[in-house]
Parts: sequence; C-alpha cells; structure tokens
Amino acid sequence: MSDPRDEIKQKLDIVELIGEYLTLKPAGSHGFKAVCPFHSEKTPSFHVSSDRQIWHCFGCGEGGDCFSFVMKMEGMDFSETLMHLGQKTGVEVRRLPTTESNVKQRLYEINDLAARYYQKVFTGSQSAESVRKYVDNRGITFELCEKFKLGYSPADWDALTQFLLKRGYSENEIITAGLGQKKRSGSGLIDRFRDRLMIPLRDHHGKTVGFTARLLPMRDPSLSLRMTEVKNVGMTEEVTTQQPHESTNLPKYINSPETPIYHKGSLLYGLDLAKTSIKQKNYAIVVEGNLDVVGSHKAGVENVVASSGTALTEDQLRLLARYTKKLVFCFDQDAAGLTAAKRGVSIARSLGFDVRAIILPTGSKDPDELAQKNPVEWQKLSETSVPFMQYLITRVIHGKNLANVDDKRCVSHELIPALVEIADVVEQEHWLNEIAQLLGIDTSILRSHLPVPTKPNHSKLDTKVVQPKTASTASKEDRAAMLILGLYVMDPGAFPELSADIHFPENSSSLTVELYTLAKRLYNSSNTAQKQSFFSRLENHLKSESREDLVKLLIEIYFLAETAFSQLPSENVQKQLNMLLLLLRHSEAQNKRKNIAMELRQAEHAGDKETVKRLLSELNHF
Ligand code: UTP
Ligand code: MN
Repeated sequence: MSDPRDEIKQKLDIVELIGEYLTLKPAGSHGFKAVCPFHSEKTPSFHVSSDRQIWHCFGCGEGGDCFSFVMKMEGMDFSETLMHLGQKTGVEVRRLPTTESNVKQRLYEINDLAARYYQKVFTGSQSAESVRKYVDNRGITFELCEKFKLGYSPADWDALTQFLLKRGYSENEIITAGLGQKKRSGSGLIDRFRDRLMIPLRDHHGKTVGFTARLLPMRDPSLSLRMTEVKNVGMTEEVTTQQPHESTNLPKYINSPETPIYHKGSLLYGLDLAKTSIKQKNYAIVVEGNLDVVGSHKAGVENVVASSGTALTEDQLRLLARYTKKLVFCFDQDAAGLTAAKRGVSIARSLGFDVRAIILPTGSKDPDELAQKNPVEWQKLSETSVPFMQYLITRVIHGKNLANVDDKRCVSHELIPALVEIADVVEQEHWLNEIAQLLGIDTSILRSHLPVPTKPNHSKLDTKVVQPKTASTASKEDRAAMLILGLYVMDPGAFPELSADIHFPENSSSLTVELYTLAKRLYNSSNTAQKQSFFSRLENHLKSESREDLVKLLIEIYFLAETAFSQLPSENVQKQLNMLLLLLRHSEAQNKRKNIAMELRQAEHAGDKETVKRLLSELNHF
C-alpha cells in the first residue's frame, strides 16, 4: 500500500482546504493570498500556491503543506491530522500507534454509535411516541431532527449500556465516554441519560463528542415514582448545580461530563453547520440555547452558535475568531443569562471582537420562539444588530423610572462597567454622552466618576509575538541568492543548469547556502524531464533527510520568487536572473577587494615589499 500521506496529498486541494478556514483572494497566476491566521496583520501576507500545494506567511515566517496547516490551525498532532485528513479524503489510515489517539478514536466511535442508537429509538420506538409529539409541537420538523440528529434515550436503566456492551465496548469505555456510570451498590452500569430528548453535541468538524439531554415536560406526573426508583437502585441524582425545571426538581438539561474528547468550555454548539454561513456573512450570532440554534435553522438563518447557557470562554472565542471577528449576541429576554453573558462579552471585547446584539421584540422570550412564530421577522432581525452598548442600555432601562433616584443609581451601576470596557475613545465618548443624557447629569461629572480601566488578563488575538521575518531580515546578498534559487524552483525547465559560479558572501545565512548547494547538486544531475518536477523532487529529498528546516526555507523561497517574478514576461525573468548574479558577483568582488586592501596595509606596515607588489597587481585585476 502506498503511503497514506501521499494519497491524501493527491486527493486534497490545499486551496480548497485552506479556503474552508480563510478567505482567499487570488494573487499571481495560480496563487492566493489571505490574512494570516497565525499572527495579527491587516494586509495579507499569507500565500497559498495551488501549483505547489504549499503555503507560507511572510509576516510570521510559518509555512508548509496541508498537514502542517491543519496541525497549526486545529492544534492537532501529526497522527491526529493524518486521521482527520484521511477521513476527509476517504483515504484509509491505519489506526494510530499511540494509545492516546486510540482512546480518543474509540470515544468518537462510541459517541457516534450512541447518537445513532438514540436516533433510532426516537424515530422507531413505540415508547417515543409522546416525545415525537413534543418535538412536533415545538415546531421541530423531521428535516431538522435529521440535521441535528435528535434522539430519545429510553426510560430503562441500562438500555444503551447493554447495546454498547454487545457492540464490543467495555464498561470502562462506556464510563469514560460519559454515557454510563457505576451503580452505587452491586455491579454493572446504568445509563447516564434516561427518558430524555437527546441532542448530540458535535465539534466543529461535525463529530459527536457528547450529549445534552432535555427533560420531557410531560414526564412530571411520574416524578414521585421516579424518585423512589432512584433510591432503590442507589444512584445519585444528577448534578445539583443545574437549574431545576419548573415544577420538578430535576434539571431541565443534563450534559455529558468532561471527557478526553468533550470539553464544555471549548465546544460551540452548531458551529459545524454554521461555519460556511458565518464566513459568508462575516459575523456569528451567539444564542444561549441549543434549541435556539435548531429553531433558527428552520427560519434559514444558519450563522448561529449556542454558548449553552454560560458565558463564552476564551477557547470558544478563539475558535470563532477563525471564521469571523464580529459577534452578534442574541440573549433570552429573561434576566438570568445576562450577567453570565456579559462576562463573555467582555472577554470577546478584550480579544478584539466587534461586539453587537440583537434586540428581540417583546413577546418573544428567545430566538427559538421568534423563529418558530415568525420566521421572516427572525430572518430580518438576524441582520439588524445594534452596538452592544445600545442593547445594554435598552435592556437596563426597561421598566425603570429614570426620574427615580434609586432607579437612576441602579441603571448607572449596570452601565458604567460596560462603558469602561469600550476601548475605542470615540465610541466610549459617544456612549458616555448618551448615558449622561439618560441620567440627566453633566457629561463631565459622569466622566470624572469613571473608574480607571484595569488591564484584562487575556492577551489580544493580535498581540502574539511574531518571529522575525527571514526574507526581510536577510542581507541583500542572501536575498539575491534566495531569489535565484527561487527562479529555478518556480520555473525549473527554463534554465539548463543551476549556475555553478555563485559564490556566497561570508555573511550568507548558512541555511541558504546549504539549501543552495543541495539544490544545485540535484538540479544539475537531473535530466530535462526530472527538472520539470524539480520542486517536489527537492522537497521529497529534504523530507527524506528529515530536513524540515530546509523544507520551510524552500517554501519561503518559492513564494518569494512567485511574488517577485510571476507577473514578469519571461525575457525579463532572464534579465532579472542576470542582474541577481551580477549583484552577487559584484558583492563577492567587493569583499575580495576589502580583504586585499587589508592585507596590503598589513604588508606595508611590515615592510614586506614582495607581498605589497603581488597584492597591488591583484587589486588591479578588479
Ligand atoms: P434555556 O433554559 O434557555 O434552554 O438554557 P433552551 O435551550 O431555551 O431550552 P428550551 O427552549 O427551554 O427547551 C439555555 C442553555 O443552558 C444550558 C443548556 O445548554 C441550554 O440549551 N442549560 C440550561 C443547562 O446546561 N442546564 C440546565 O438545567 C438549563
Ligand atoms: Mn432559552
């Protein structure tokens, strides 16, 4: 069997792959440019070549092939990347040798299987009749159930566990996956989720990593029976920190615990289905509930993700930042979520997001309700956001009497911290005036009462330290040598042989010299046909020698030449090459002259007439 690495590379187009993450703009004949995701910049210095299937950023010096891109972008190690791209391209990658990735792989499988099991019970089982009715009553169509893979966990104690055991998963794996837990007394497991509407939680690749499970409201009457059953089995009831549902004391939602593949704080519900739409519209709508995402899709609004009832974390925000820097929050009308949500908003601000909000009309408690009741209005509202401060003001003064001093104090306490967070001075001044007017006080008085802003501990997305740029910090000679080599790499058939007479000045970077020397040997020993594929031959050669450093330099050199020469007519390319060679020769000569002049001074000093004479004649040769 051939190397899966090569097979993947053959099937995958790097432009398409990177295009899933970044907005690519055409540059040069077969190239693309984008704003680099690995360091902060305004003008794009991230290049992708469709000819060579490589990428390089001139800003931070990073570069490589499809594997290195996914590794950096997704924070995966190499074997995870291989598996991931293998799946994407349908190339079979044999199971990884490392146990850690093996465990993860099994966990993905078991979660996927569980989701399919719940789905099957939901669509086919008699016992799910009332659940189907509930879902239907909520306006969730068959298509939406399919799209979000909604399911039902049967009321039995261990239906899923038994199913998974039969399928060859061990008790330990079922526990690690968070799908079952040990009975408190006796042996065996019981299912974590029973008699609930199951919502699979998928990561941004669409892989099921866990579940959130909604209590079915019509189950309330059987509650007393249920609780005695719980005692008999000796099972501890679910986490008490979750909010109980209306009249019962069971939590409305229970979720998978943290597992090696599920981290609550870094998953964004709905992102797998929202990615494309977020990139297209260049903003993401953040809602509270998972079912708000589902409802929104019904109205055709797909750039929506759910924070799942808590404040957005820095991890979630960094994930979102891959797709957009503009967030539009749409909170539930009840006050409960607002405090938590505000924390997410300030982290988002401190990370440099543009933060806005959607004001729901009175009478719709959350986006789901509005999307179900009036899909057209939700479509419209989804595109009409207001600055977050304006939203906050509207929310805070709602139901307040601003002539009342207590209400005034309350309003100012709510608004001032948010005002302080606004980094842009002009914007801050604008809202300062608004609020002062609202409270009926003098702007300068309000300003003098603003607390001194404290520094957030989150590093802005754009303050990452960037590595020095190799090409731009290189000496003139080094750069010329890089460009010469770049010409061969770019258009190898065009030149009969790699100039033998380049002498690198002493201050050349040793890597460039090394690469040049290797390249020269390979190029000059290649026949015409081999020369055509010089780039990949050189790349493969370097990889086989594990010279990743030289591979990176080679890629940089390629793009350097691409940018410099691809627009030039071919006769000018030859001229450029001659000039570069001249520049090197010239600078070499200059160096020699300097050296001779120095020796000459020494010889004169020592009174060595013989040497002085020889050196003088040498100098005359230049
Ligand atoms: P909501 O109570 O707003 O849920 O909580 P919802 O999605 O609107 O559900 P419906 O429409 O009432 O059925 C928002 C989110 O908070 C988390 C869930 O992720 C939920 O989607 N949550 C809520 C919990 O984790 N546990 C709870 O007990 C309640
Ligand atoms: Mn809600």
